[in-house]
Amino acid sequence: MDGTLSPNDISRVVEADRANVWHHLVQHKPFETGAPRIIIEGRGMHVWDQAGKEHIDGVSGGVWTVNLGYGRERIANAVRDQLIKLPYFAGAAGTVPGALFAEKLIDKMPGLSRVYYCNSGSEANEKAFKMVRQIAQKRHGGRKHKILYRDRDYHGTTIGCLSAGGQDERGAQYGPFAPGFVRVPHCLEYRKHEQDGAPEEHYGEWAADQIEQVILREGPDTVGALCLEPVTAGGGVIVAPEGYWPRVQEICRKYDILLHIDEVVCGVGRTGTWFGYQHHGIEPDFVTMAKGVASGYAAIACCVTSERVFEMFKDDAEDPLNHFRDISTFGGCTAGPAAALETMAIIEDEDLLANTRAMGDYMHDQLQALAERHAVIGDVRGKGLFLGAELVADRDSREPVDEKLAGQVVAECNAQGVIIGVTNRSVPGRNNTLCFSPALIATRDDIDRIVAATDTALARVFG
Ligand SMILES: Cc1ncc(COP(=O)(O)O)c(C=O)c1O
Repeated sequence: MDGTLSPNDISRVVEADRANVWHHLVQHKPFETGAPRIIIEGRGMHVWDQAGKEHIDGVSGGVWTVNLGYGRERIANAVRDQLIKLPYFAGAAGTVPGALFAEKLIDKMPGLSRVYYCNSGSEANEKAFKMVRQIAQKRHGGRKHKILYRDRDYHGTTIGCLSAGGQDERGAQYGPFAPGFVRVPHCLEYRKHEQDGAPEEHYGEWAADQIEQVILREGPDTVGALCLEPVTAGGGVIVAPEGYWPRVQEICRKYDILLHIDEVVCGVGRTGTWFGYQHHGIEPDFVTMAKGVASGYAAIACCVTSERVFEMFKDDAEDPLNHFRDISTFGGCTAGPAAALETMAIIEDEDLLANTRAMGDYMHDQLQALAERHAVIGDVRGKGLFLGAELVADRDSREPVDEKLAGQVVAECNAQGVIIGVTNRSVPGRNNTLCFSPALIATRDDIDRIVAATDTALARVFG
């Protein structure tokens, strides 16, 4: 751990944090008596906290972001060099890393052609929502403006994104929300018994057909877009069942509905392909991304569109309101694309997509083996190095475990120096899925350590 900070320095940092920092997503009462966790340093898969304790990070910076691990000098050097040359210029102009990263990104996304830079996943989704609404105004007399989103999906923290949020605990107490967002049912096969009319077979097609039912109810001429996560992340690590995606594509084409895939978590490698949607051969109109794009070394988010969408914003150059009148100040920071260029190059140089597929399969098998020893694991699911284990009090009824117990499993892993996650303040009564998303560099030994700690934690909490 960093020897430049003395114990005195560290206690000063802890006190400054306790006195002045408002942490994300957590209740602060416990910090009146105990200290908040401060992460001091990271190397590879490991981080060290203020007590000097080493942890293996099973969730890539807590929220599936530091996909290449910590201490990547190559990225840091590229960012440093770029900052000295030109740190920023407003996005009405271009920059060297902005142009070069857009070219590299588009090379991985056949069928798409335009990159709009901004600085968070929420913001990237807002851009797509605004484009859909503007297209509705320009092309459909304002009518085709509704945006469909799915139960259990999450698209961000702003009021607009929460209006498109399928996780009711995220939205609770923050309403009223924006009009024009309409929910469609989830596609979690493990919980199909909770959905009226769900069939034993061909559940994937049925779940997609539920989207069509909503479109017909709303009126197809009012629906502009459908926004989906390729794998639902914080809503329970949900992989859509066989048959789902082809039907989704078919339905969007049938009703002229734009398909927006939110790759904020899956984008740039997490599932073993560059993008999650690429497992399914579908052709989105919008793809949004953030977290892993620069592996957390700089803030960057992108809203990527097809040329067809882009063309709609330049067809009447005489109309002063015709183009996309949007700006993101920090979308002009060059550190983001500079770090993202190196991130992509490292993934290629180290063949990390292949590693993600191989280690993802290995981890899936290891978690499945855990499920044989612990009846509390009701379902193991995921894709690549993006995995979840849903905990149930009873395998037959599939009643979820009390979320406090799921939280205790995380705490018991932490006590062993292993950081894992759990769905948190997400879907009411469904904060019961353990989450695993180690960096794409993970080895078998890393995975064995994470799984062994989970094994011990489950035994301690559930016996
Ligand atoms: C699928 C998905 N979309 C969007 C977001 C929002 O991203 P950000 O926190 O960068 O605004 C998140 C964040 O967790 C996410 O998981």
